[in-house]
Amino acid sequence: MLVMGIESSCDECAISIVEDGRRILSNEIASQIDIHRPYDGVVPEIASRMHTEWILSVAEKALESAGVSLEQIDGIAVTNRPGLVGSLLIGLNFAKGLALARGIPFVGVDHIRAHLYAPHLEYEIEYPYLGLLVSGGHTVISKVEDFDTIQVMGATIDDACGEAFDKVAKHYKLGYPGGVAIDTLAGSEGADPRAFSFPDPSLHKGKHRYDVSYSGLKTAVINQLDQFWDGTSEKSPENIAASFQRAAIDMLVRRVARAVKDTGLHRIVAGGGVAANSLLRSRLKEMDGVEAIFPSMGLCTDNGAMIAGIGYHYLKRGEHSDFSLNAYPRVKRFRKTYP
Ligand code: KG4
Ligand code: ZN
Repeated sequence: MLVMGIESSCDECAISIVEDGRRILSNEIASQIDIHRPYDGVVPEIASRMHTEWILSVAEKALESAGVSLEQIDGIAVTNRPGLVGSLLIGLNFAKGLALARGIPFVGVDHIRAHLYAPHLEYEIEYPYLGLLVSGGHTVISKVEDFDTIQVMGATIDDACGEAFDKVAKHYKLGYPGGVAIDTLAGSEGADPRAFSFPDPSLHKGKHRYDVSYSGLKTAVINQLDQFWDGTSEKSPENIAASFQRAAIDMLVRRVARAVKDTGLHRIVAGGGVAANSLLRSRLKEMDGVEAIFPSMGLCTDNGAMIAGIGYHYLKRGEHSDFSLNAYPRVKRFRKTYP
């Protein structure tokens, strides 16, 4: 089955053609990073305008590089939540138009679940496993039993991990987008991750066992730098980046280690933009007795392949959306269900 996946929830206008939920025939991503850079963040109105301008040519390119015609597409999958509503609506209406014109089914897909599906495009992965979703808007540790059965164990109680990277980078003018800029600076020669010892919030007990909190860390880095300084190192952008990154990633790794111990699950599958972080990748891959699976870089951040990939499974079991489907800014039914 050939599925076209359409992703327009934020600043990537992305369309991909995937066969049988696994084989990526094309994966076109028109990034708006350069357009939003002068504002140090995504401007929603500009994002949706750019999607409107670009989406048709991105779709044409996706078909052309896959070497297939629109007539060969069996179904369409499109992100309809969560994200910027104006941007989501462009992709959603485009999908509806194509489905109507061709008389084929389309299905609305949850972007968060799709991020966790991304590694399945490249690896044969057995369920269950611990899913670590780390993106600009969400941070979720879960027990994944099937592509659509996800038990949330922990999540951020305030800011998302990627959001903290972006805000720290913006404050110290480290570069845009923030996650990549901090990762690069932290890896530069001489960067000292111990110049500042930022705290990990004490969320050790009961229902907060697997939760994270990035708002406090962000405030500490931005407003209370001196309080956590070792008193001797240089207060350089490299040292700030490396110390912040160490604290941000340590927080995740500690929760994951706890989840591994409690569940006895030894397979960790990561997804989302922050899964591209070099320190997170190395720390989890080095973890004893654990198999850590990461998507390749291009499949960590937003893409249409993960949408087509997960969409295939819905379409295969006969599920599709009707034309009244709307776009929503928030995630649905993602409440804590474990233990
Ligand atoms: O998954 P994604 O492309 O979009 C959302 O669904 O949010 O994730 C974007 C987030 C941004 O916050 C970005 O700063 C972060 O992923 N990110 C990174 C890295 N690459 C992207 N964070 C840390 N290290 C990276 N290498
Ligand atoms: Zn995303």
